[in-house]
Amino acid sequence: MLVCALLAAAPAFAQDATSAQPWMDAGQSPDARAALLVAAMTQDEKFALIRSRFAIGEKKPEEALTAAGYVAPIPRLGIPAQSLVDAGLGVTNPGGARTGDHATAMPSGPMTASTWSRDIAFKGGETMGREAWRQGFNVLLAGSVNLQRDPRNGRNFEYAGEDPLLAGTLVGESIRGVQSQHVLSTMKHYALNDMETARNTHSAEIGDRAMHESDLLAFHVAIEIGQPGSVMCSYNRINGTYGCEHDELLNNVLKRDWRYPGYVMSDWGGVHSASKAANAGLDQQSAGEVFDKAVYFDVPLRMAVGAGVVPQTRLDDMVHRILRSFIAIGAFEHPPQRQPVDAALDAIGFDVAQRTAEAGAVLLRNENGVLPLAPGVRRIAVIGGHADTGVIAGGGSSMVGWTSRGTSAVTGVQPTTWPGPVMFQPSSPLLALREALPDARIDYADGRDRAAAARLAREADVAIVFATQWAAESVDLPDMRLPDGQDALIAAVAAANPRSVVVLQTNGPVELPWIDVVPGVLQAWYPGIRGGEAIARLLTGAVNPSGHLPVTWPVDVSQLPRPTIPGLGFNPAQKPEDTIDYDIEGANVGYRWFSAKGLTPRYAFGHGLSYTTFATSDLQVRADGERIVARFTVRNTGERDGVAVPQLYVHLPQGHATPLRLAGWDRIELEAGETREVEVALAPRLFADYHPNDRSWRIAAGDYTVALGQSAIDTGERAALTLPARRLD
Ligand code: BGC
Repeated sequence: MLVCALLAAAPAFAQDATSAQPWMDAGQSPDARAALLVAAMTQDEKFALIRSRFAIGEKKPEEALTAAGYVAPIPRLGIPAQSLVDAGLGVTNPGGARTGDHATAMPSGPMTASTWSRDIAFKGGETMGREAWRQGFNVLLAGSVNLQRDPRNGRNFEYAGEDPLLAGTLVGESIRGVQSQHVLSTMKHYALNDMETARNTHSAEIGDRAMHESDLLAFHVAIEIGQPGSVMCSYNRINGTYGCEHDELLNNVLKRDWRYPGYVMSDWGGVHSASKAANAGLDQQSAGEVFDKAVYFDVPLRMAVGAGVVPQTRLDDMVHRILRSFIAIGAFEHPPQRQPVDAALDAIGFDVAQRTAEAGAVLLRNENGVLPLAPGVRRIAVIGGHADTGVIAGGGSSMVGWTSRGTSAVTGVQPTTWPGPVMFQPSSPLLALREALPDARIDYADGRDRAAAARLAREADVAIVFATQWAAESVDLPDMRLPDGQDALIAAVAAANPRSVVVLQTNGPVELPWIDVVPGVLQAWYPGIRGGEAIARLLTGAVNPSGHLPVTWPVDVSQLPRPTIPGLGFNPAQKPEDTIDYDIEGANVGYRWFSAKGLTPRYAFGHGLSYTTFATSDLQVRADGERIVARFTVRNTGERDGVAVPQLYVHLPQGHATPLRLAGWDRIELEAGETREVEVALAPRLFADYHPNDRSWRIAAGDYTVALGQSAIDTGERAALTLPARRLD
């Protein structure tokens, strides 16, 4: 009865609230509501909104949840608190300080990108958004979309590979998923924070056109799809200017050319000035009292506004942008409700993580049918990688350290402090294999004793080595090699048993010096909380692999644009340089570099095997008004159901600086023998060039070739297309 009475009274109450506080009228646009609010605010209230506080450690505001950031509410005006939590691979719980809070540890960014699935990326974002909301947060510091320019970047595991269209599309979908839960997502780190070494000072040097056709294109695509409430500017400098005081990137590109209506927040420790940053387009300083030299967006900015160095209209714009973003995602109407973990929802999150891992693992090599494991296999040797207890994860602010399965399955691995501890999600591939194959004898050797591992391998029908490479925020990898003698272990096992399989759990591509003697290789990235189960299902064939590389897999560092970079790794012998010259490859990131240089990688961008085979035919490409559309037929020519990922690449007219670009793809489930006609809309921007002089994207009149294939170098059919000159909006 009481509930009914309350419900009946609600609309009247809401109306009263709206007339006193007209910005609460959800029928108005976010901009109209934000404008009303700004007009009602005092100067102090405005200043309170443009800086967040660090909510970890001594200076944590008492009422804040322990997490990356907090801005107090303004109850007088009905403005909610801003509660910020990391990051893009699940909801973190730094040091486990929020007792009882746990989340789904999602697979790494490149693993989600390897699915090439918009739907899977969205569901991952939706899961993270829901879990953030139920833990009391309304901002998730997600949406990491820096391009992979070098496999040694320690943060590649947070990103989505090397291609602007693929990375931008899938990260955009993930952002959309987060925000569908009334949790604002960032997109970060804008821009060119593509290496961690000296990240707080180094300058990424790159020309305008190259920047727009690579990293900035990924950001732009992600913004168009995801409409993130906030963009996080990066630590590094770009052509000499810090990301968080970069007038050209923030004001001109992001806010004017792209018409971005949201706000720019700084990375933690990324602010170096008050008026310069504010006038350049920074809207909110993050945790300056802990990470920056000064809380620039308090007293120094008040003085600058008072003196007219920063116009009052600019301060109002900062506040407007922040408020309109929270209004737009429904944060005013749907404030987060902190509540106990719901076991059923937790299981749904774990299922999403498992499905992502199953669709994102990439079968790199499969000779002599070594995989899937034969149903009658009697004896299996499982070796190394702590496969008896877990799967590895990356380190730093994005690390999800607490799930409903507890914390790390392995302790004591160095480093145990920032950017560690080294985390192994409790999800044992060994136990999952034993469960999947109850009639097989499956023994485990930890791999520390190479001879013992080889002995075990010799006695088995098949030997599976689990190899790991840990990577973390704030430090790059010194090289492309598997650490701790794992290459020698794999070689010893392969010498003992020709039916060997290597399951890699890495940040990304590593050298594979033993590849000729190992018939099976599965790239399992950092596979998240159900990684062990997913790997077992892929190895046994319960799931048919369908992941495709979102990065080129070089043979070794000699094929990279910068084979040697000083200062990489922990305690480097050489000092890092002040600048990184990205003009070496410019817009030719990854497969475009390999194509332009005529290099053959170990595995091409887009590569990924299946337990079945596919054929494509009847490619037709036509321009249909503003659209460019490809039609073709895909057929599953094998004996098993599977998922094809046909890819369409544009070959630019002869002599073009960027010879090859991914312009579209699809992901299609096909039963054994099934044929399907497919239509894929290609992205016109991938046919166009960026012209810095008039800041336009233009397609040059000419003859283009569109190639259909299963990787950037395995393309079969081609179709010609003649396009007239056209300027894109
Ligand atoms: C990282 C960001 C992160 C922030 C807050 C920074 O060190 O670069 O990605 O969101 O910290 O923890």
